[in-house]
Amino acid sequence: MNKRSLVSITDYQKEDILRILKLTEKFDKDPNRDLLKGKVCATLFFEPSTRTRLSFETAVNRLGGRVIGFSDASTTSSTKGETLKDTILMVSNYADLVIMRHHLEGAARYASEVSGVPVINAGDGANQHPTQTMLDIYSIYKTQGTLENLTITIVGDLKYGRTVHSLIIGMSHFNPTFNFVAPEELMLPDTYKVFCDKQGIKYTEHTDFSPEVIDNADILYMTRVQRERFTDLMEYEKVKNVYILKKSMLDNSRDNLRILHPLPRVNEIQQNVDDSPKAYYFEQAKNGMFTRQAIICDSLGINVD
Ligand code: CP
Repeated sequence: MNKRSLVSITDYQKEDILRILKLTEKFDKDPNRDLLKGKVCATLFFEPSTRTRLSFETAVNRLGGRVIGFSDASTTSSTKGETLKDTILMVSNYADLVIMRHHLEGAARYASEVSGVPVINAGDGANQHPTQTMLDIYSIYKTQGTLENLTITIVGDLKYGRTVHSLIIGMSHFNPTFNFVAPEELMLPDTYKVFCDKQGIKYTEHTDFSPEVIDNADILYMTRVQRERFTDLMEYEKVKNVYILKKSMLDNSRDNLRILHPLPRVNEIQQNVDDSPKAYYFEQAKNGMFTRQAIICDSLGINVD
Protein backbone atom coordinates (compact mmCIF):
# COMPACT_ATOMS: atom_id res chain seq x y z
CA MET A 1 0.00 0.00 0.00
CA ASN A 2 1.23 3.53 -0.76
CA LYS A 3 1.30 6.32 1.75
CA ARG A 4 -0.85 9.21 0.65
CA SER A 5 -2.40 12.47 1.68
CA LEU A 6 -6.12 13.21 1.92
CA VAL A 7 -6.61 16.87 1.07
CA SER A 8 -9.95 16.88 -0.74
CA ILE A 9 -12.75 14.34 -0.99
CA THR A 10 -11.97 14.41 -4.74
CA ASP A 11 -8.75 12.55 -3.82
CA TYR A 12 -11.01 9.53 -3.22
CA GLN A 13 -12.69 7.68 -6.07
CA LYS A 14 -15.86 5.69 -5.39
CA GLU A 15 -13.81 2.53 -4.72
CA ASP A 16 -11.67 4.43 -2.19
CA ILE A 17 -14.78 5.62 -0.35
CA LEU A 18 -16.15 2.07 -0.23
CA ARG A 19 -12.78 0.73 0.94
CA ILE A 20 -12.62 3.29 3.78
CA LEU A 21 -16.19 2.38 4.79
CA LYS A 22 -15.22 -1.29 5.05
CA LEU A 23 -12.19 -0.38 7.21
CA THR A 24 -14.36 1.90 9.33
CA GLU A 25 -16.76 -0.97 10.02
CA LYS A 26 -13.82 -2.97 11.38
CA PHE A 27 -12.76 -0.16 13.72
CA ASP A 28 -16.38 0.38 14.76
CA LYS A 29 -16.39 -3.26 15.97
CA ASP A 30 -12.92 -3.05 17.56
CA PRO A 31 -11.26 0.38 17.89
CA ASN A 32 -8.45 -0.76 20.19
CA ARG A 33 -5.57 -2.31 18.22
CA ASP A 34 -1.81 -1.84 18.22
CA LEU A 35 -1.57 -0.84 14.57
CA LEU A 36 0.23 2.50 15.10
CA LYS A 37 2.87 1.31 17.57
CA GLY A 38 6.02 3.37 16.96
CA LYS A 39 4.20 5.98 14.85
CA VAL A 40 3.95 9.67 15.73
CA CYS A 41 1.06 11.74 14.36
CA ALA A 42 1.10 15.55 14.46
CA THR A 43 -2.16 17.46 14.92
CA LEU A 44 -1.67 21.08 13.82
CA PHE A 45 -4.83 23.07 14.52
CA PHE A 46 -4.53 26.67 13.37
CA GLU A 47 -8.31 27.00 13.86
CA PRO A 48 -10.45 25.92 16.85
CA SER A 49 -11.87 22.42 16.99
CA THR A 50 -13.40 20.04 19.51
CA ARG A 51 -14.52 16.93 17.63
CA THR A 52 -12.07 16.74 14.79
CA ARG A 53 -8.93 17.17 16.87
CA LEU A 54 -10.06 15.02 19.78
CA SER A 55 -11.40 12.23 17.60
CA PHE A 56 -8.16 12.18 15.60
CA GLU A 57 -6.11 12.10 18.77
CA THR A 58 -8.30 9.43 20.34
CA ALA A 59 -8.07 7.43 17.12
CA VAL A 60 -4.26 7.49 17.30
CA ASN A 61 -4.17 6.72 21.03
CA ARG A 62 -6.50 3.75 20.67
CA LEU A 63 -4.25 2.37 17.94
CA GLY A 64 -1.13 2.60 20.12
CA GLY A 65 0.43 5.61 18.38
CA ARG A 66 1.61 8.89 19.84
CA VAL A 67 0.43 12.43 19.20
CA ILE A 68 2.33 15.73 19.07
CA GLY A 69 0.94 19.08 18.02
CA PHE A 70 -0.98 22.16 19.06
CA SER A 71 -4.58 23.29 19.39
CA ASP A 72 -3.76 26.98 19.58
CA ALA A 73 -1.44 28.44 16.95
CA SER A 74 -0.80 31.50 19.14
CA THR A 75 1.58 29.31 21.16
CA THR A 76 3.69 28.48 18.10
CA SER A 77 6.42 30.24 16.15
CA SER A 78 3.87 31.21 13.48
CA THR A 79 3.27 34.25 15.74
CA LYS A 80 6.95 35.17 15.17
CA GLY A 81 6.39 35.08 11.43
CA GLU A 82 7.35 31.47 10.64
CA THR A 83 5.76 30.46 7.35
CA LEU A 84 3.42 27.51 6.91
CA LYS A 85 6.03 25.95 4.63
CA ASP A 86 8.73 26.06 7.30
CA THR A 87 6.33 24.78 9.96
CA ILE A 88 5.35 21.81 7.81
CA LEU A 89 8.97 21.05 6.87
CA MET A 90 9.88 21.00 10.56
CA VAL A 91 6.94 18.91 11.70
CA SER A 92 7.36 16.39 8.90
CA ASN A 93 10.90 15.87 10.21
CA TYR A 94 9.39 14.76 13.52
CA ALA A 95 6.16 12.95 12.67
CA ASP A 96 4.96 10.16 10.36
CA LEU A 97 1.70 11.93 9.55
CA VAL A 98 0.46 15.53 9.64
CA ILE A 99 -3.20 16.28 10.41
CA MET A 100 -3.88 19.97 9.86
CA ARG A 101 -6.75 22.43 10.17
CA HIS A 102 -6.14 25.90 8.75
CA HIS A 103 -8.27 28.96 8.08
CA LEU A 104 -6.90 29.44 4.55
CA GLU A 105 -8.50 27.62 1.63
CA GLY A 106 -5.80 25.61 -0.14
CA ALA A 107 -3.50 25.46 2.91
CA ALA A 108 -3.81 21.68 3.16
CA ARG A 109 -2.97 21.17 -0.52
CA TYR A 110 0.06 23.43 -0.13
CA ALA A 111 1.14 21.56 3.01
CA SER A 112 0.84 18.22 1.22
CA GLU A 113 3.10 19.53 -1.54
CA VAL A 114 5.91 20.58 0.81
CA SER A 115 5.55 17.83 3.43
CA GLY A 116 7.77 14.76 3.46
CA VAL A 117 4.96 12.73 5.06
CA PRO A 118 1.24 12.37 4.25
CA VAL A 119 -1.05 15.26 5.18
CA ILE A 120 -4.70 14.85 6.19
CA ASN A 121 -6.86 17.93 5.79
CA ALA A 122 -8.91 18.51 8.95
CA GLY A 123 -10.65 21.52 7.33
CA ASP A 124 -9.27 24.39 5.25
CA GLY A 125 -11.33 27.58 5.44
CA ALA A 126 -14.64 27.29 3.59
CA ASN A 127 -13.15 24.79 1.16
CA GLN A 128 -13.08 21.13 2.23
CA HIS A 129 -13.40 18.84 5.25
CA PRO A 130 -12.91 15.41 3.72
CA THR A 131 -12.65 13.35 6.93
CA GLN A 132 -15.96 14.88 8.09
CA THR A 133 -17.42 13.78 4.79
CA MET A 134 -16.21 10.23 5.27
CA LEU A 135 -17.79 10.08 8.73
CA ASP A 136 -20.96 11.61 7.30
CA ILE A 137 -21.05 9.00 4.55
CA TYR A 138 -20.39 6.23 7.08
CA SER A 139 -23.23 7.58 9.23
CA ILE A 140 -25.55 7.66 6.23
CA TYR A 141 -24.60 4.10 5.29
CA LYS A 142 -24.98 2.84 8.87
CA THR A 143 -28.43 4.38 9.30
CA GLN A 144 -29.86 3.77 5.82
CA GLY A 145 -28.21 0.45 4.95
CA THR A 146 -27.31 1.87 1.54
CA LEU A 147 -25.77 4.95 -0.03
CA GLU A 148 -27.65 4.70 -3.30
CA ASN A 149 -30.61 6.82 -4.44
CA LEU A 150 -31.12 8.75 -1.19
CA THR A 151 -32.77 12.14 -0.81
CA ILE A 152 -30.62 14.47 1.26
CA THR A 153 -31.87 17.85 2.49
CA ILE A 154 -29.02 20.20 3.42
CA VAL A 155 -29.96 23.25 5.48
CA GLY A 156 -28.16 26.40 6.58
CA ASP A 157 -24.86 27.88 5.50
CA LEU A 158 -24.30 26.34 2.09
CA LYS A 159 -21.99 29.13 0.99
CA TYR A 160 -19.20 28.80 3.56
CA GLY A 161 -20.02 25.29 4.82
CA ARG A 162 -17.01 23.18 3.92
CA THR A 163 -18.73 20.03 5.20
CA VAL A 164 -21.54 20.72 2.74
CA HIS A 165 -19.16 21.18 -0.18
CA SER A 166 -17.31 17.96 0.58
CA LEU A 167 -20.54 16.01 1.19
CA ILE A 168 -22.01 16.95 -2.19
CA ILE A 169 -18.90 15.67 -3.95
CA GLY A 170 -18.60 12.57 -1.77
CA MET A 171 -22.22 11.50 -2.24
CA SER A 172 -22.16 12.28 -5.97
CA HIS A 173 -21.04 8.69 -6.65
CA PHE A 174 -24.31 7.31 -5.30
CA ASN A 175 -27.07 8.99 -7.33
CA PRO A 176 -28.42 11.28 -4.61
CA THR A 177 -31.20 13.85 -4.87
CA PHE A 178 -30.40 17.03 -2.95
CA ASN A 179 -32.71 19.68 -1.50
CA PHE A 180 -30.59 22.76 -0.77
CA VAL A 181 -32.15 25.11 1.81
CA ALA A 182 -30.37 28.43 2.45
CA PRO A 183 -31.12 32.15 2.70
CA GLU A 184 -30.19 34.20 -0.38
CA GLU A 185 -26.98 35.36 1.34
CA LEU A 186 -25.75 31.81 2.00
CA MET A 187 -26.83 29.89 -1.10
CA LEU A 188 -24.68 27.14 -2.53
CA PRO A 189 -21.87 28.56 -4.73
CA ASP A 190 -22.41 28.08 -8.47
CA THR A 191 -19.38 25.84 -8.76
CA TYR A 192 -21.18 23.09 -6.80
CA LYS A 193 -24.37 23.51 -8.83
CA VAL A 194 -22.36 23.23 -12.04
CA PHE A 195 -20.76 20.11 -10.57
CA CYS A 196 -24.20 18.60 -9.86
CA ASP A 197 -25.40 19.49 -13.37
CA LYS A 198 -22.36 17.85 -14.96
CA GLN A 199 -22.80 14.70 -12.86
CA GLY A 200 -26.53 14.54 -13.65
CA ILE A 201 -27.41 14.94 -9.97
CA LYS A 202 -30.94 16.15 -9.26
CA TYR A 203 -31.34 19.07 -6.87
CA THR A 204 -33.82 21.72 -5.82
CA GLU A 205 -33.11 25.05 -4.11
CA HIS A 206 -35.26 26.62 -1.40
CA THR A 207 -35.18 29.65 0.86
CA ASP A 208 -38.07 28.27 2.98
CA PHE A 209 -37.42 25.42 5.41
CA SER A 210 -40.77 23.90 4.48
CA PRO A 211 -42.38 20.59 5.56
CA GLU A 212 -41.93 19.33 2.00
CA VAL A 213 -38.10 19.23 2.20
CA ILE A 214 -38.23 17.38 5.52
CA ASP A 215 -41.00 14.94 4.64
CA ASN A 216 -39.40 13.73 1.41
CA ALA A 217 -35.91 13.28 2.88
CA ASP A 218 -33.93 10.27 4.06
CA ILE A 219 -31.24 12.48 5.57
CA LEU A 220 -31.70 15.96 7.01
CA TYR A 221 -28.25 17.56 7.20
CA MET A 222 -28.40 20.67 9.39
CA THR A 223 -25.51 23.14 9.52
CA ARG A 224 -24.51 26.12 11.63
CA VAL A 225 -24.32 29.64 10.24
CA GLN A 226 -20.62 30.23 10.84
CA ARG A 227 -19.95 33.55 12.50
CA GLU A 228 -16.20 33.19 11.89
CA ARG A 229 -16.63 33.28 8.09
CA PHE A 230 -18.36 36.70 8.02
CA THR A 231 -16.31 39.87 7.57
CA ASP A 232 -19.44 41.99 8.23
CA LEU A 233 -21.05 40.92 11.54
CA MET A 234 -24.26 42.82 10.65
CA GLU A 235 -24.69 40.33 7.81
CA TYR A 236 -24.22 37.47 10.28
CA GLU A 237 -26.84 38.93 12.64
CA LYS A 238 -29.36 39.00 9.79
CA VAL A 239 -29.09 35.28 9.05
CA LYS A 240 -27.83 33.62 12.25
CA ASN A 241 -31.18 32.17 13.36
CA VAL A 242 -32.78 31.84 9.96
CA TYR A 243 -33.64 28.13 10.29
CA ILE A 244 -34.43 26.34 13.53
CA LEU A 245 -35.45 22.68 13.54
CA LYS A 246 -38.25 22.02 16.03
CA LYS A 247 -39.42 18.57 17.11
CA SER A 248 -42.93 19.09 15.71
CA MET A 249 -41.43 19.60 12.25
CA LEU A 250 -40.55 15.88 12.21
CA ASP A 251 -44.16 14.71 12.67
CA ASN A 252 -44.69 13.65 9.05
CA SER A 253 -41.10 12.69 8.25
CA ARG A 254 -40.12 9.26 6.98
CA ASP A 255 -39.41 6.53 9.56
CA ASN A 256 -35.91 6.14 8.20
CA LEU A 257 -35.13 9.88 8.37
CA ARG A 258 -31.99 10.63 10.34
CA ILE A 259 -30.84 14.11 11.33
CA LEU A 260 -27.14 14.77 10.89
CA HIS A 261 -25.14 17.83 11.88
CA PRO A 262 -21.35 18.17 11.74
CA LEU A 263 -21.57 20.13 15.02
CA PRO A 264 -21.03 22.38 16.86
CA ARG A 265 -24.68 23.36 17.03
CA VAL A 266 -25.74 26.83 18.10
CA ASN A 267 -29.52 27.42 17.73
CA GLU A 268 -30.36 25.55 14.55
CA ILE A 269 -31.62 22.37 16.27
CA GLN A 270 -33.76 22.81 19.36
CA GLN A 271 -32.46 20.83 22.34
CA ASN A 272 -35.59 18.67 22.65
CA VAL A 273 -34.99 17.26 19.15
CA ASP A 274 -32.12 15.34 20.80
CA ASP A 275 -34.75 13.00 22.33
CA SER A 276 -36.05 11.99 18.92
CA PRO A 277 -34.90 8.59 17.62
CA LYS A 278 -34.27 10.44 14.37
CA ALA A 279 -31.55 12.59 15.94
CA TYR A 280 -28.22 11.00 15.02
CA TYR A 281 -25.66 13.81 15.36
CA PHE A 282 -23.95 12.58 18.53
CA GLU A 283 -23.57 9.05 17.16
CA GLN A 284 -22.34 10.68 13.94
CA ALA A 285 -19.58 12.43 15.93
CA LYS A 286 -18.68 9.11 17.56
CA ASN A 287 -18.41 7.51 14.13
CA GLY A 288 -15.73 10.13 13.43
CA MET A 289 -13.24 8.29 15.60
CA PHE A 290 -13.66 5.00 13.71
CA THR A 291 -13.60 6.73 10.35
CA ARG A 292 -10.42 8.61 11.23
CA GLN A 293 -8.76 5.40 12.38
CA ALA A 294 -9.49 3.99 8.92
CA ILE A 295 -8.21 7.09 7.13
CA ILE A 296 -5.02 7.29 9.22
CA CYS A 297 -4.18 3.63 8.53
CA ASP A 298 -4.96 4.09 4.85
CA SER A 299 -2.77 7.21 4.63
CA LEU A 300 0.12 5.44 6.35
CA GLY A 301 -0.24 2.32 4.20
CA ILE A 302 -0.92 0.13 7.25
CA ASN A 303 -2.58 -3.21 6.60
CA VAL A 304 -5.50 -3.43 9.00
CA ASP A 305 -6.00 -7.17 8.47
N1 CP B 1 -17.39 18.92 12.84
C1 CP B 1 -16.28 19.62 13.23
O1 CP B 1 -15.39 19.89 12.40
O2 CP B 1 -16.25 19.96 14.54
P1 CP B 1 -15.06 20.70 15.26
O3 CP B 1 -14.97 22.09 14.64
O4 CP B 1 -15.38 20.74 16.71
O5 CP B 1 -13.80 19.94 14.95
